[in-house]
Amino acid sequence: MICLGVETSCDETALALVRDGRLVKEKMASQEGLHSLFGGVVPELASREHLRKAQALFTALLDESGVAASRIDCVAVARGPGLLGSLLVGVNFAKGLALGLGVRLIGVNHLHAHLLAAGIEREILFPALGLLVSGGHTHLYLIESPFEFTLLGRTLDDAAGEALDKAAKLVNLPYPGGKFIDRLGQGVTPDESLFPGTLAAHAGLDFSFSGLKSAAARHVAAHPGLRLPRLPEEGVAASPELAVYCASINHAVARSLRAKTLRSLEAHPQVRSLVVAGGVAANSMIRAVLTKMCKKIGVEAIIPQMSLCTDNAVMIAFLGERMARKGLFHDMSLEAVPRGRPVPNDHACEAVEAG
Ligand code: KG4
Ligand code: ZN
Repeated sequence: MICLGVETSCDETALALVRDGRLVKEKMASQEGLHSLFGGVVPELASREHLRKAQALFTALLDESGVAASRIDCVAVARGPGLLGSLLVGVNFAKGLALGLGVRLIGVNHLHAHLLAAGIEREILFPALGLLVSGGHTHLYLIESPFEFTLLGRTLDDAAGEALDKAAKLVNLPYPGGKFIDRLGQGVTPDESLFPGTLAAHAGLDFSFSGLKSAAARHVAAHPGLRLPRLPEEGVAASPELAVYCASINHAVARSLRAKTLRSLEAHPQVRSLVVAGGVAANSMIRAVLTKMCKKIGVEAIIPQMSLCTDNAVMIAFLGERMARKGLFHDMSLEAVPRGRPVPNDHACEAVEAG
C-alpha cells in the first residue's frame, strides 16, 4: 500500500510517500527564514506559503520518487491541532487529491503522529508512555496501541519549546531559539540555582514553564551583558556567562520532563517503552537525561532521529497507512481542528481484508 502524507499544521509544508511502513520519499519547504524576521510564526503568512508551495512539492515528490500518481492508494493529512488557516490549506489540498485520484482520505491527529513516528525506525513496544515536547505542546500519554491514547498530564501554561524559544529571544538568539540554547549550553555545567523547579517537585503529572520564562527574564534584566548584539545565525558565539545561562535553561527543562515522566512510569508499571517526540526531543541534554533515566529503571527509551522529531510528513503518511490498514477513513466532511480543541475520533471504521 502507498500512502501520501500531507503536513501543513504550522510552518513546514511537507509531503511524503510511505509504502508498507517504509519511507519512499519526502519533500519539504520550511518557512523558518520568513518567520524568523518577525520573531515567531505569523499565521496569515504561513497559510499563504503553504498554498504557494504544496502543488510544486507534490509534482517534485512524484518526479523524484518515480511513483506515478495513479499508484497512490490513500491520502493522509494532518487535520489538527495546529494553526487553523494552515491546516485548512493542507486539508483541502488532500481532499482535492483524494477526489482527483479516486482514493480514500484519512485525517491524522498531528500529536499522535509525532508520538508514533519512531515506529518507522524501530518497533515500539506497547503499552508505551509518550512524552510529546514541542513548541505548542508538552503532553504525557499512556499509549496502549497505535489507536488508543490517554492523556495523563500536560502543561498548565507555556510549552517546553515555547519557554526555550522565549529564553533564547531574551538574549537575542534567532527564532526559533531552542536549538541555539541547546548548542550553546553543550558541555557546560549548569548552575542549578539560577532557575526554579518548574513544578518538578509538585505531586501531579502536569507541567508548568511560565515560572522559568519569568525567572529567565528577571535574570537577563539583572545581567544585560548576556544579550548578544543581533548576529546572523551562523555567527553566534557565546560568552562563558551566556553558555551557563543556556546550560541552566536546558537543565531546568530536562529536570522537569524527567520528574513527571518518572512519576508516570512509576504509576504505570506495565509500560514497556518511553517514546519521546516533538521538536524539543532534538535537545541533547533532554535526550541524555531521559535515556539515562530509562536505563536505570529498565524501560526502553525510543527517541527518533532529529528529522522525525520536528514537523514532517513522513509521520503523517506512516500513521495514515496504519489507519487505512485498519479501515479508519474520513469522507469529504473532514474538518481541521485548531490548537486548544480536542481532535475527535470521527473516522468511519470499515471492514478491511487482513494482510
Ligand atoms: O515539533 P516542532 O517542530 O513544532 C511544533 O511546535 O509543532 O517543535 C518546535 C520546537 C521549537 O520550540 C524549537 O525551538 C524546538 O522545538 N527545538 C529545540 C531543538 N530543536 C528544535 N529545542 C531544544 N533543543 C533543540 N535542539
Ligand atoms: Zn508538531
